[in-house]
Amino acid sequence: MRRRADNQTINKDHVDGDKKENVERPQHDNSAKGKLSIGSWIINMGKCLLLIFIVPPFLNYASLQRERQMLLPKEGQIVDIGLGQTMHLLCKGNGIPVVILDAPTGMSSDVWFHIHKDLSSLTKVCAYDRMGLGFSKHLIQNGTTETERTWGVSTAGRMVDDLHRLLQAAEISKPFILVGSEIGALNARFYSHIHDVQVSDLVMIDPIPEDIFEELLWREFWYGKLLPSLQAKQFSAATGLSRMLIILGILEPTVTGPDVSEEVTQLQKYLLCNPAHQSSAVDEHYFMNESAAQVQDISKFKPLSSRTPVSVITGDHFDREVPDQLNQMVAKLQKKFLEVSYSSANHIHIKGADRRMIYKEPSAIIQHLRKLVSRRQANRFSA
Ligand SMILES: *[C@@H]1O[C@H](CO)[C@@H](O)[C@H](O)[C@H]1NC(C)=O
Ligand SMILES: *[C@@H]1O[C@H](CO)[C@@H](O)[C@H](O)[C@H]1NC(C)=O
Repeated sequence: MRRRADNQTINKDHVDGDKKENVERPQHDNSAKGKLSIGSWIINMGKCLLLIFIVPPFLNYASLQRERQMLLPKEGQIVDIGLGQTMHLLCKGNGIPVVILDAPTGMSSDVWFHIHKDLSSLTKVCAYDRMGLGFSKHLIQNGTTETERTWGVSTAGRMVDDLHRLLQAAEISKPFILVGSEIGALNARFYSHIHDVQVSDLVMIDPIPEDIFEELLWREFWYGKLLPSLQAKQFSAATGLSRMLIILGILEPTVTGPDVSEEVTQLQKYLLCNPAHQSSAVDEHYFMNESAAQVQDISKFKPLSSRTPVSVITGDHFDREVPDQLNQMVAKLQKKFLEVSYSSANHIHIKGADRRMIYKEPSAIIQHLRKLVSRRQANRFSA
């Protein structure tokens, strides 16, 4: 906006200048003058378009390259998981059982920062970026891989396959406690059903019920409201607009608050400006119905082993910013799938919380996870 305004004043100066010249030299050929000013107007317009459409994306791209190097966490590893793909894994602390954290839909591993830090005083805790998000890069050179052909791009099946290869490559000790939120919870379910000996405990935070995409009202919300807003963010990142809006203080990162470290804030800003991250966030949302359908099938044909304890953590609402009707729908369908597939699950309700609890109100989640870890550690020593 500011650029446009500047340009207008530049044009105005020119017009004033022209007028002055005309007054001083009345004999001057007017038609040539007209052509000249149209020419310079076109040149100015060209410069203006250049400024608006070429320079910001270019500057944004250049800044992203630099920021990526700077912001990559020091303890973070870039793990080669085969097929030419690399994933970002961030582990803190020592000990077993390892806790694996799988982030909500379209989010990167840094949303876990409170939980990650706190739990790492007790045991080894690892968070990772799903393919395309954060510091995990999509395979570009070879299009679709075998698993993508089997499961589809950006679906739970593909993500679970990636996670499995990541944990294998990084030699994470098993069994581990698997914690996931939203799509992370779908992934955690999928993983626990298939690789049951690797998972000692399954923890779902705000799980998306697998049959919710059968509801028209939910589909209208998801594909009609949520997805377009994410696509707008992707466009804004690609054009460099997000960077300008952040500089002007108009656009703020999702994860904010007094307890959020400067590092996380910078990383969140980087991700807002990063078109690759935003595009993967859009894909995860777009294919969420497929992911849900895959998990529905897995739950039916390969139920969870009865030896795996399950806990579910939810707040008062799924999302306090969406209409009540949608929240009630999520709650009803969550109750149903838990009764059908995980009848002995331990349900923890956090008063006043919604899906933002991971970074806004993490204390109850931390308390529960600490209990799970301590119980496993005590069992180990007594065995
Ligand atoms: C890429 O594809 C080609 C042929 O489709 C295959 O031979 C090659 O191994 C693939 N590379 C990777 C890294 O998957
Ligand atoms: C998911 O949604 C897309 C587009 O709305 C549709 O084409 C596809 O069939 C849906 N998939 C499932 C499993 O419902």
